[in-house]
Amino acid sequence: MGPIELKSRIYWVGAIDWNTRDFHGYSTPLGTTYNAYLILDEKNVLVDTVKAPFYLEMLGRISEIIDPSKIDLVVTNHVEMDHSSSLPQIVDRIGNPIVVTSERGQKGLVKHYQRPMNFQVVRSGESLSIGRRHLTFIEAPMIHWPDSMFTFIPEDRVLLPNDAFGQHLATCQRFEDEIGDEVMRHAAKYFANILWPLAPLIIKKIDEVVKMGVPIEMIGPSHGLIWRKNPSRIIEAYLDWSHGKAEKKVLVIYDTMWGSTEILAKAILKGLIEEGIEAKLLHLRSNHRSDIVTEMLEAKGILIGSPTLNNGMFPTVGDFLTYMKGLRPKGKIFGFFGSYGWGGGAIKEMQRFLESESFEIWEKELSVQFVPNTEEMKRAIEFGKEFARRIF
Ligand code: FEO
Repeated sequence: MGPIELKSRIYWVGAIDWNTRDFHGYSTPLGTTYNAYLILDEKNVLVDTVKAPFYLEMLGRISEIIDPSKIDLVVTNHVEMDHSSSLPQIVDRIGNPIVVTSERGQKGLVKHYQRPMNFQVVRSGESLSIGRRHLTFIEAPMIHWPDSMFTFIPEDRVLLPNDAFGQHLATCQRFEDEIGDEVMRHAAKYFANILWPLAPLIIKKIDEVVKMGVPIEMIGPSHGLIWRKNPSRIIEAYLDWSHGKAEKKVLVIYDTMWGSTEILAKAILKGLIEEGIEAKLLHLRSNHRSDIVTEMLEAKGILIGSPTLNNGMFPTVGDFLTYMKGLRPKGKIFGFFGSYGWGGGAIKEMQRFLESESFEIWEKELSVQFVPNTEEMKRAIEFGKEFARRIF
């Protein structure tokens, strides 16, 4: 696949990583892309690069358009190595171009690559003329690193926001309208696993971009498909997710040792469904943690079940809670249940673990010794019903 022209003389020249299946703990069963963009004007500009093993793939696409040595500027919106690790090679190939980045971007690049580069530091709101066009820079610290920056091309109304609005997805398609509504599922997983903890900052940053008063016609993120048909769709979805907008939905997330916690989970699910709730059962060894947190995005209630092992929670439950806690999901109500043999402990440990971060926790719990009997099964169904009434 060659380069793709997005607008007149603006090209996608990135790389497709068909094989990656894990992105620092986030499962990527469909791979990903590293998007780089080439803008031809009086000054030729490369915006972002690709992960180092894909340098030649990017270079090949650039070379189909121009001699790479004719690039004048390389904009680095973000230092993380999936976007910058081929920067040293492209800088050498071009022959010391100007590297435009934020102040923190410069610090990060110096520390990562420990070699001289011809830096030009830009600040939020600053514009750089490249001929017919300008590049306007918008610093976006913590979306999702301190150095993160967006590049906006007002004349073409194209926003290149690096990691924001992306998806991890390797395809031959380059635009969101080519795969239909499926794109939202990938965008939701990306938001939940990467950007959720930064939701308050995202709301502010979107507001800042909207206040620039220039309609955005296209959003080219650094991963996945480019939003060209309806870029406002992903902006609105980010606002909904950042504000914690939730459906009438509850997740029952659990693991089980000898089956008792699973019996309780299914009885609780029955109770929720009987109360008219959309409910889902998620076994922690059958669902990847990054898929479960994606399901959480639009759920209001989360019930977590664990058997007690060595007076504490089951290891898979600890793994999930650790991952989920770091994402700081807003506006959810958590409840806990579980089974035990000679002594309990899992429920208290799960509650303590989340209490420390001010999660809202339902005061009721369901704890059963050994195998649930008929009476305890009724209690589990009622537990589900009560939780539904508590949160809706
Ligand atoms: Fe896609 Fe923060 O790197």
